Amino acid sequence: MARVFVTRRPVGDGLERLRAAGHEVNVWPAAEPPSQQQLIERAQQADALLCMLSDRIDAAFLDACPHLTVIANYAVGLDNVDLAAAQRHGIAVGNTPDVLTDATADLAFALLLAAARRIPQSAEAVTNGSWGTWQPDGFLGTDLVGATLGIVGSGRIGAAVARRATGFDMRVLTTTSRGGTPLETLLAQSDFVSLHVPLTPQTRHLIDADALTRMKPTAILINTARGQVIDQQALIAALHAGTIAGAALDVTDPEPLPPDHPLTQAPNVLVLPHVGSATTRTRTRMTELAVDNLLAGLANRPLPHPAPTPAPTPRAPAP
Ligand code: DGY
Repeated sequence: MARVFVTRRPVGDGLERLRAAGHEVNVWPAAEPPSQQQLIERAQQADALLCMLSDRIDAAFLDACPHLTVIANYAVGLDNVDLAAAQRHGIAVGNTPDVLTDATADLAFALLLAAARRIPQSAEAVTNGSWGTWQPDGFLGTDLVGATLGIVGSGRIGAAVARRATGFDMRVLTTTSRGGTPLETLLAQSDFVSLHVPLTPQTRHLIDADALTRMKPTAILINTARGQVIDQQALIAALHAGTIAGAALDVTDPEPLPPDHPLTQAPNVLVLPHVGSATTRTRTRMTELAVDNLLAGLANRPLPHPAPTPAPTPRAPAP
């Protein structure tokens, strides 16, 4: 019997399969996440961990948890896990790919449509009473037909967004690691730019002040990837200056974003609380994949959904 610590109750009854296999499952009982100290205290005795994207699984955490043999991250993104440190500790790490592709692509498109057709501003005018009457020029937005959508990152979610865009008769440009449209060209030509890259040292602040100035002043930036892919200070400045027309973001830095954060005060910005994968079916399937990973790891079998192997750290040059 192994001890499994689960940092938040996941959707569905997938944890029952762990209990049926004879494992002891402890679930963090509060709705609020554990502090880093509480996380370490609870995981210290565990053989396996089911963690959330908001848990910081860094080298110090891994050093403090000597019994861990497998970690299942309840997300496809793995930027919260130090994969190289886990590899050094011999800990198998898995994630939940594929099952959240469509839900996240739907959300990216929902953000795109909401920003293009000014849905938050229009709805707000109805509820706050400022909608006087129907006007020929009331709440004018942007057409999707014929508009260019630039997709930064051509993984599964980027490809799913491209399929949706084709259905709306949009022109699609995509950056890929092996070619595609160069980022500078994509930024200059797109009416909408949607981000679908993992957060890595190479993609942190990929959309910085320089990238924002390359975009059209009428363009809208959409982010369902990770907040840190955008230099948020530069974005706030660009929105105030009218360098771009708007931003629709499911992810921010930090999360949660304080309600009085300058980003929420910027013009034409829509911020959601990281709900890309938040459908009942998707979150239930994510639980299933995470449990599949834990059961395999605890049985000393290869994980069915393993994390990519971390890139080797370059050696320091000889003195
Ligand atoms: C992920 O799985 O990385 C998503 O951000 C969750 O919504």
